[in-house]
Amino acid sequence: MNIQLCIELAGLVAAFLLIYGLKRMSSPVTAHGGIVLAGVGMLVVIVASFFHVLDVPAAARAGLGLKIGLAALALALGLGWAGWTGRRVAITAMPQMVALYNGMGGGAAAAIAAAELVAGTGTGLAHWGVTLLGAAIGSISLSGSVVAWAKLDGRLGAPWRVRGQQFINAGVLAALVLLGAGILIMPGGAGTSALAVLFFGAAFALGVLVTLPIGGADMPVVISLYNAFTGLAVGLDGYVLGNPVLMIAGMVVGSAGTLLTLLMARAMNRSVRNVLFSNFGDIAEASGEAMSGRLKPTEASDAAIAMRYAGKVIIAPGYGLAAAQAQHKLYELVKLLQAAGVAVKFAIHPVAGRMPGHMDVLLAEAGVPYDLLYERDDINAEFADTDIALVIGANDVVNPAARTEKSSPIYGMPILDVDRAHQIYVIKRGQGKGYAGVENALFYADNCNMVYGDAQAVLTRMVQAIKALGEDAAPDRAA
Ligand code: TAP
Repeated sequence: MNIQLCIELAGLVAAFLLIYGLKRMSSPVTAHGGIVLAGVGMLVVIVASFFHVLDVPAAARAGLGLKIGLAALALALGLGWAGWTGRRVAITAMPQMVALYNGMGGGAAAAIAAAELVAGTGTGLAHWGVTLLGAAIGSISLSGSVVAWAKLDGRLGAPWRVRGQQFINAGVLAALVLLGAGILIMPGGAGTSALAVLFFGAAFALGVLVTLPIGGADMPVVISLYNAFTGLAVGLDGYVLGNPVLMIAGMVVGSAGTLLTLLMARAMNRSVRNVLFSNFGDIAEASGEAMSGRLKPTEASDAAIAMRYAGKVIIAPGYGLAAAQAQHKLYELVKLLQAAGVAVKFAIHPVAGRMPGHMDVLLAEAGVPYDLLYERDDINAEFADTDIALVIGANDVVNPAARTEKSSPIYGMPILDVDRAHQIYVIKRGQGKGYAGVENALFYADNCNMVYGDAQAVLTRMVQAIKALGEDAAPDRAA
């Protein structure tokens, strides 16, 4: 069969696998299979692109075996390295890994565009325009993703902001556009290489300058946005190279990244513009207000015994559960409560934690069955007839100010209505604020008690307290 036809068929197969894989990722039950399907789809894209770009049969006939071998070795090294690091990465370091690999995708797209600019054979304004767009977007995605990785990994501290920052960024963007226009006017001319170097420099600088002022906790949204950028850059490269498989893969990644970015922003009741330009933490700091009521600490054992004798308990996990890596201990507690006849459910907020699906991934890792997990809209009505809501390391996603305080930076963010439960216990280490940096009136409510301590240590004490009650406690409740 004709090699070109094979490559086009591979494009269709890859598109089907990627889109069907994405669809299966929409439920935790089918997500694993979906990831495998999308992975196979990406492998098809890689192999098809390898044959397309190198034109392997023609290169072999021309005696370019060494070139083919070197390219195959590079692919094998990349696949092997990614597979090895992907298996070893800790669940808490997943956002960093995604940032880094996404940056590499952007860098690869920029490198393809650079090669086309320097030695390309294409003609026409559209060809060069698309090449430049791919180069700019890929470069911004590379440098921005590296900054995002450094922030998430704790290698870069507080957000870097200077007066007139937005004017500096606008100036660099204007320079980028002018340099691109210069290359467009004289593609392939003597000065093109020098202009191209400045063009790439400006694009890299823009990625760094836009990302540096954004707070570390907003990085998941930023990474998702750069992921969309990388997909777009790869899709544009596919057009430049006349490679339909690359175009399809790039567009799927680009649209999935865009949708994820919008969904994350919407779940926080913020716009993407607000995430990129608002300095969220500073605003929150300024609008903090005094709380009425008092904090009422209680012992882990008292809270555990109350749960042991409750009819229904809903658990609202948040970032602190992930920080403490307490998911296994939590499931141990849940199994003890279930064994004692308590109905236990988990209330999962879409942006609890620091990355999409953070709580689902964490609880799945501990073996918590999916049918115990309920999304916010499906469980909120149940809090009113729940004996106990156990909040573990969550803060913003259970802050009633989101419903009532118009001046609060989280006003309008849909929350878990844990405050409507008969009794609430909150596990946290002290009086630390959440990601939005605002006080939480829930902690001062009459029906709320604080169980202070690291989530891992508190849950360990709760498990011990329930075990200490002994087997003979079960019939009491049944009676
Ligand atoms: P947060 O509002 O960040 O609150 C987490 C709480 O956990 C803190 O108040 C902290 O209090 C406590 N904590 C930290 N380490 C702990 C530990 N080892 N043991 C026990 N408690 C601990 O978390 P949330 O309610 O999950 O809300 C998530 C926030 O992140 C939202 O504002 C959301 O918009 C934002 N965000 C989410 C995402 C995604 S996609 N999930 C992306 C970007 C931003 P102490 O210091 O007193 O312990």
